[in-house]
Amino acid sequence: MNAPHHIIGAPMDRTDGIAKVTGAARYAAEHPLPNLAYAVLVTSTIPKGRIAGFDAHEARAVPGVIAIMTHENAPKLPDQTKSGKLMPPIGRVLSLLQYDAVHYNNEPVAVVVADSFEHAREAGARLKVRYDTAEDAVLDFETAQEKLHPPESVLGEPADTRRGDALAGMLEGAVTVNQTYVTPFEHHNPMEPHATIAHWEGDHLTLYDSTQYIHGVRRIVAQTLGMAPEKLRVLCPYIGGGFGCKGSVWSHVVLAAMAAQMAGRPVKLVLDRPQMFGPVGARPVTKQRLALASSTDGKLTASRHDVIAATSMIENWIEPSALITRMMYDCPTQETTHRLASMDIGTPTFMRAPGESTGSFVLESAMDELAIALKMDPIALRMANYAEKDPGKGLPWSSKSLDECYRIGAERFGWSARNPEPGSMRDGDWLIGWGMATATYPTNRSAATASARLNADGSAAVCSGSQDLGTGTYTVMTQVAADTLGLPPEKVHFDLGDTRYPDAPVSGGSTTVASVAPAVRAACEAVKMKLFGIALADAASPLAGALASDLELQDGWLVHKGDTARREAVGEVVARHGKPIAAEASAAPGPEKGKFSMHAFGAVFAEVRVHAHTREVRVPRITAAYGVGKLMNAKTGRSQLLGGIVWGMGMALFEESYHDPETGRIVNDSLAEYHVPVHADIGDIDIIVVHEDDPHVNPLGAKGVGEIGITGVAAAIANGVHHATGRRVRDLPITLDKLL
Ligand code: MOS
Repeated sequence: MNAPHHIIGAPMDRTDGIAKVTGAARYAAEHPLPNLAYAVLVTSTIPKGRIAGFDAHEARAVPGVIAIMTHENAPKLPDQTKSGKLMPPIGRVLSLLQYDAVHYNNEPVAVVVADSFEHAREAGARLKVRYDTAEDAVLDFETAQEKLHPPESVLGEPADTRRGDALAGMLEGAVTVNQTYVTPFEHHNPMEPHATIAHWEGDHLTLYDSTQYIHGVRRIVAQTLGMAPEKLRVLCPYIGGGFGCKGSVWSHVVLAAMAAQMAGRPVKLVLDRPQMFGPVGARPVTKQRLALASSTDGKLTASRHDVIAATSMIENWIEPSALITRMMYDCPTQETTHRLASMDIGTPTFMRAPGESTGSFVLESAMDELAIALKMDPIALRMANYAEKDPGKGLPWSSKSLDECYRIGAERFGWSARNPEPGSMRDGDWLIGWGMATATYPTNRSAATASARLNADGSAAVCSGSQDLGTGTYTVMTQVAADTLGLPPEKVHFDLGDTRYPDAPVSGGSTTVASVAPAVRAACEAVKMKLFGIALADAASPLAGALASDLELQDGWLVHKGDTARREAVGEVVARHGKPIAAEASAAPGPEKGKFSMHAFGAVFAEVRVHAHTREVRVPRITAAYGVGKLMNAKTGRSQLLGGIVWGMGMALFEESYHDPETGRIVNDSLAEYHVPVHADIGDIDIIVVHEDDPHVNPLGAKGVGEIGITGVAAAIANGVHHATGRRVRDLPITLDKLL
C-alpha cells in the first residue's frame, strides 16, 4: 500500500506505458475516420521568387485524385494571415496558399488530396510548378551578416543589456579571453513527424494534431480561419516527441483544414521526413563573441556576449543565447547584444533549451579558456564568481544548489584525479580529456486549469487540456491527484490532450509540471472539500456532524482524524449523493515571480577520449548533478535529464543541417544523414539530483526538467576535447576533421 505522501517523487511506471508498447496508443495520424482522404504537401524547390503557374494535367491523371489546392484556388482567408503576426511568439507567419510569393525552399506551395496516400504522393510528385526567379536569394550566413538588425525583444527581455562600464571592466582585467564561437543549424527530428487530421462536420472542425499546445492550436487556427474557437476541437492524446517544433502552429495544420473543406471529406496530412527540414522550424546558426576579463585570482571584472543568429525573411525569431550570460556569474560590468541576420530560409524556432543550449556552449567554453589562462581549476574559477543572487535581475534566487552540484558531481566523477595539463592523460592510443561545465534553465510557470470528479466506485477522474510529449505528464499528474485525494494511483484516471478539458499552457519552456500540477492539486482540493461538505451534512454517514477540519482522506477512505473508527469509503459517500462529485480549479503564478529569480542549475562532467591517430571522439561517461526543486517522479524525471544529456552529446559531436548554397535546401534531410547519437555512441550517464526545497517556484516545489539536461553538455565535451588534445574547437559539431 502506498502511503500518500510517498506517491510524489516515487519512480512510478508510466500510466501510458502499456498503451504505448502494445500499440494501443493512437498518435495524430492513426485516428481512423470513415471516408478519410489523404493529403500530401507539395513544397517549393526554389528559395525565392514567384509561382508563374502550375501544370496539373499529369497530376490530375493519377487515379483517385480528389483535389489539388494551390494559391489559384485555395479558400481566401481573413486578411491577417497575409501579414502574419497572429499571436507572437506562438503565432507564426504561415504559408497558406494566399498568394504567389516563395520565401524559402521547401515552403508549402500546394496540397494534393487523393483517396489513398500512394495516389496523393504520386500526384504530388507529378504536379509541376513553374517559377519566376528574378532576384538572388541570401543563402549563406556570412552574406546575411552584412545587414544585421536587432530583434524587438528576446523572449520578452530586452535584446541588449548593459550593467556598469564593461569597457572599463575589460581594461581593468589582468587576464582576458575574447573568442568567437559558432553553433550550426539543427533540426528537430522527433520519431513522429508533424501530422494533422482535419474533420469538418457542418461548421464544426475537429483536428487530431501532433502538438505541444492543443489550446493554442484551437485559438490560432480559429483566428486564422475566421471561426469561433468554440466550434473547433483539438485532440492530441499522444505525441511521439516534440522538442519545440510542435510548440507552434505551422502551415500544414491550417492547410489540412482548408483541404478538408475543399475535398468535402476528412483529410489526413503527414509531413514526410524531408519536410521536417524547412517549414516547421529549426535551431538557427549562431555566431557568438564572448569576452571575459578577470583579475589574476579569477574574479571577473567584465563580460561581453554578442549574439548573431539567422532568421527568415518573413519573421524575426531570435535564438536567445546571451540570456544565460546575464544571470550566471557575479560580474560587475557587462554588455550583451542580440542581432538577427535574415536569410531566405524557413523561420527558426524553439528547440530544446532555446538560448541556454547554444549560450551555455559559448559561455562555458569561454570560462574554460579563462581557467586555463589563469592556470586555475575550472570549478574554482566558477566558485570564485558564484552568483549569490541573479546579477541581471538583481533578485534573490528562489533556491540554488549549484555549489552542491559542483561538489557532488566532482566527487562522483573523480575530478580531483585530473591532471590539468592537456594531453597528459592517456590510455594506449586514446587521449583522455576531462571537461566540465555549468547547466541552467529558467523555471517557468503559467496559469492552468484542471477539473476533478469523484465516482461512486471510489475512483477519481481528473483532467486538464495539457499535453504529454512522451515525458510523463499522464503519470506525474496521476501522482499529484492520488496524493491530494488520498487515493492509490490505480484509482485515479488522469486525462489530457483534448480542448474539451480546461485550458492549460503550451508544453514548452519546461513549464508543464510547474503549471499544471498546481491546477490538478487545486481541483483535487476543491473536490475534496465538496466531498467533506456532503459527508458532514449527510445523517447516514458515520461522519455526520463532524467538522471539515476533522477529516482527511486516506487510501480511499474518509477518516475522522480524532476518532479513526469513524470512517467511510469515499465511494459510499458519492453513491449516496446519487451523482459524481466534481470541481474545477485554476492555479496561476503569484507575486513570487516578481520577488525571486527562478532557475534550475546543474554541473556536467564529461570524460572524452580522442584517438591519437584517427582523431575519433568518444564520450564513455558523463556525470551530471542537478538542483531541480522537487523531482516529481524519480524515473520519468531521470529519463528527461538523460534524454537531454544524450541530445547534448549530439549537439557536441554530430548534429548539423547543411543548406545547399545554390538552392537553400537542406541536403542532409533524412535520419540517415542528419546524425544524432545512436545507442553505441552513449556510454555511462550518471545523474544525481540533489535535495532542494523551493517554496517559491510553485506549490509543488518542482522546477522543470525538460530542457536543463541539454545545457552545458556540449561545453563539457568541448572542454574535455581540449584537455585531451590541447585543441580548442569553437564551432560545433566537433567532428574529427577539426582535430586533425
Ligand atoms: Mo521546448 S524548445 O520550449 O518545447
